[in-house]
Amino acid sequence: MRDKLFSKKNNLTNFKFNKSVADVFDDMVKRSVPGYQSMLELIGLSVREYGKDNTNYFDLGASTGASSLALGLNNIHINNNIIAIDNSKEMTKKCKKNLQNKIDNISVICADIQDIKITNATVTVLNLTLQFIEPSKRQKLIDNIYKGLNSKGVLIIFEKIHFDNKIKQEQITKLHLDFKLANGYSKLEIGAKRKALENILITDTKKTHCNRLKKAGFKNITCCFQYLNFASFLAVK
Ligand SMILES: C[S@@+](CC[C@H](N)C(=O)[O-])C[C@H]1O[C@@H](n2cnc3c(N)ncnc32)[C@H](O)[C@@H]1O
Repeated sequence: MRDKLFSKKNNLTNFKFNKSVADVFDDMVKRSVPGYQSMLELIGLSVREYGKDNTNYFDLGASTGASSLALGLNNIHINNNIIAIDNSKEMTKKCKKNLQNKIDNISVICADIQDIKITNATVTVLNLTLQFIEPSKRQKLIDNIYKGLNSKGVLIIFEKIHFDNKIKQEQITKLHLDFKLANGYSKLEIGAKRKALENILITDTKKTHCNRLKKAGFKNITCCFQYLNFASFLAVK
């Protein structure tokens, strides 16, 4: 369904992952996140490379299930469980509906990713989700993921980022605005969504991400992809 959520002036409320968002999420994410499709491809490559037989793959903040689908369709290993977690009931409902008949080794769970136990994991995905966790709690979450990963397991993070340099920040923000305009959003919609996401989506710099991963204990950390103000990180235990 086409995302028209912010096309009316009266929709200037706080952003929530409710039914209205779940219904248009797939269209929203494609038209507003540069590199989203490449990120899904990267998840596919990573599960082939880092997945192992008899282990778990976690998709944290799974939304409608695109990352889980990338994990499932590209998996070349045997006896794996894909565990997709989201704390939005509407998202988990949609995720189950989208993935039924497509992957059979998946459990979709409605829970807070900060409360779950990660065990026997070789691949864990945090795709556009860490940015919605309270900044003071992000290190604990990454530490928990690290503990639950097997040796040589991978954490894949994709996030909106910001830049310390003011000019760089302005230049890239302007190009991101152009990206959304080119994808059919109006200036009114873009402004309204930005307002609704204020204090809800809180970005970090690349340096903050890398330092956090290092602090958790990850041995090899690479920023392996960036398109404007969106970047992905591969962290191998
Ligand atoms: C931008 S979406 C993620 C997109 C998705 N990973 C993908 O690949 O398309 C962020 C998701 O994180 C979920 N979320 C935010 N905070 C969460 C938390 N503490 N626990 C579980 N899910 C959370 C939201 O409900 C939302 O569905």
